Amino acid sequence: MRKLFIAGNWKMNLDAAAAKELTTGLKDNLCDCTAAKVDVAVCPAYVYVPQVVEIAQGSPIAVGAQDVYFEGNGAFTGEVSVAMLKDVGCKYTILGHSERRHVIGETDELTNQKLLAALAGGLDVILCIGELLEERQANQTEAVIERHLRKGLAGVTKEQMAKVTIAYEPVWAIGTGQTATPEQAQEAHAFARSIIADMFDNNVAQETRIQYGGSVKPSNAAELLSLPDVDGALVGGASLKVQDFMGIINAGASTCGCGCQ
Ligand code: 13P
Repeated sequence: MRKLFIAGNWKMNLDAAAAKELTTGLKDNLCDCTAAKVDVAVCPAYVYVPQVVEIAQGSPIAVGAQDVYFEGNGAFTGEVSVAMLKDVGCKYTILGHSERRHVIGETDELTNQKLLAALAGGLDVILCIGELLEERQANQTEAVIERHLRKGLAGVTKEQMAKVTIAYEPVWAIGTGQTATPEQAQEAHAFARSIIADMFDNNVAQETRIQYGGSVKPSNAAELLSLPDVDGALVGGASLKVQDFMGIINAGASTCGCGCQ
């Protein structure tokens, strides 16, 4: 049984005081019972990672970065290495986010180099995949999902897949308030899982967590998180407010069906 994994991607938002307040609020509101059912992580901008790690210490909240570079050290102005993120207590890194792909211009090949370096250096990875609106309209959704997975996960071993989470984030649903329908999300997730089965094996596919991302809110989280192939959420805007992010986490915990709240 895959445990739900809900992560907040804070993107280029908040300042030090707001990051502190948000982390403290989440720590105070996340009870052990919920944390036993849902893995929770937050991904601040690089500069706030050490501070957020310090506040989250002793709580079930893990901390991730939003990106990492693949080289170990040296003349790479502006970049941050896997070892640096490990050094300040990071557990995860997001990679291949649509804003990295479509705003910054990162390729599948660069994403793959980063992913291999992150896994080799001991970071868990959230690999983002997903189609643009025009790709969906041109019936390219499955082709894009397949390309992002096959190129992004090239060279990864079956064992390393235990450290990889996939986040299906249709680009047209990010920050638009327009969420994928449950049918669209389930269909895309099931397809992604079938590609993982083909690349690795069925066991790896069944064990790999696939998060949905794109306008997840407290009001739509329970429905999305109860879908058979949706194993969590990667949350942008709604992860910037304690009440909204906790609403999503609690919706996830209530879909586990054990009756404990
Ligand atoms: P929103 O939840 O703001 O749509 O952002 C989703 C996202 O990009 C998470 O990585």
